[in-house]
Amino acid sequence: MAEKIVVKNLHKVFGPDPDLAMKMLKDGHGKDHIFRQTGMVMGVIDANFHVNEGEIFVLMGLSGSGKSTLIRLLNRLVEPSHGQIIIGGHDVAAMSKKALVALRRKDLAMVFQSFALLPHLTVLNNTAFGLEVAGVDRKTRERRAMEVLDQVGLRTFAHKHPAELSGGMQQRVGLARALAVDPSLMLMDEAFSALDPLKRTEMQELLLKLQSEQQRTIVFVSHDLDEAFHIGDRIAIMEGGRIVQIGTPDEILRNPCNEYVRAFFKGVDVNKYLVAKDIAQSDETLVIHPSEDVRADFSRAIEQLRETRRNYAFIVEGNGSLQGTVSIDSMLRSLQMEAPSVHDAFLDGIDAVPHSLSVRELIGRIIKNPVPLPVVDDSNRYLGVVTQTILLRKMVEEEAGHE
Ligand SMILES: Nc1ncnc2c1ncn2[C@@H]1O[C@H](COP(=O)(O)OP(=O)(O)OP(=O)(O)O)[C@@H](O)[C@H]1O
Ligand SMILES: [Mg+2]
Repeated sequence: MAEKIVVKNLHKVFGPDPDLAMKMLKDGHGKDHIFRQTGMVMGVIDANFHVNEGEIFVLMGLSGSGKSTLIRLLNRLVEPSHGQIIIGGHDVAAMSKKALVALRRKDLAMVFQSFALLPHLTVLNNTAFGLEVAGVDRKTRERRAMEVLDQVGLRTFAHKHPAELSGGMQQRVGLARALAVDPSLMLMDEAFSALDPLKRTEMQELLLKLQSEQQRTIVFVSHDLDEAFHIGDRIAIMEGGRIVQIGTPDEILRNPCNEYVRAFFKGVDVNKYLVAKDIAQSDETLVIHPSEDVRADFSRAIEQLRETRRNYAFIVEGNGSLQGTVSIDSMLRSLQMEAPSVHDAFLDGIDAVPHSLSVRELIGRIIKNPVPLPVVDDSNRYLGVVTQTILLRKMVEEEAGHE
């Protein structure tokens, strides 16, 4: 996977003598000691991480832990005191102001919590504002602005003014304005935090929908666990200016690295966050890769199924894509035909489970249809199976692990 952002040894000292603070840090003094002695604040201490292209990377942590400072360091709204920030191969920390401005205009958009819309401009002109600043002609920028307003569901409001819109709609304009320049990287600092819970969920869904259509790299600051888990591919947890843990939501939930991180997850219902692919097992069901000779394939499969006292198998093509589900009976039936094909043996009504289906919905499906269900990724590639037993076993394990 290509890396969009690489951050190395990044530090931010707020105060008159960053070198002194850096030296004290090197000598083993902590953030609090440095503040007491010098009045300088270590906003970010030794951040090291990368963000993959197309990834949503969430920064989480308590108030004052350094999330905003870190995200603002990435586009140098805050000047780094020490360290490297490589974006798309370019060293942002060492970049000239001019190159930086060009990067911000073309390829790097920021969405804030306060919508920061210009009250005297229409929704359309607010959306096109970044393009106007970048010198794009009127016709082109208005066409592009309409396009993104359409994407965020605000086409019909293009000629209204911000004050005529609800908070949720204004935040959509903020998002549209960021999208208008078609940035490959978006920095979003508590972008949805000012919205009520319903509107907030709506914006998260919108962001995920847009992301599924066109993958951008997104760094997203949030102090909300549900939000972080919902939209984050990976999460970095910050404490006192440092990143203390980085991982997928699942990894962090399972192995919190310290009490601070654990405290975040107190009372979290783990099952709520598990999805089909977390549970799917790849070695529990027979997979048939069909050859030219369907008779031989089926005969062998029936024998194997009988030996292992199982009934169902999945047909998976050479490229990994799932074709269908068969059973001993359905294979026996098609073997009686003159020229059997794998298709003749497919069972109706066993739909593949999308990898991101929540455990709750999965339980519903298994209750309705208590057979092994194949789990697939977005390109219909077979990932594994979920059965009633696998599901139950998993839930019992979770219970035990969180007592
Ligand atoms: N311009 C500044 N001058 C001095 N100190 C600052 C400045 N900006 C931030 N800080 C300090 O740096 C630390 C990190 O602040 P930051 O705003 O990054 O936290 P945060 O995690 O975004 O918090 P919140 O959740 O409240 O937004 C805090 O101690 C803060 O007081
Ligand atoms: Mg902040």
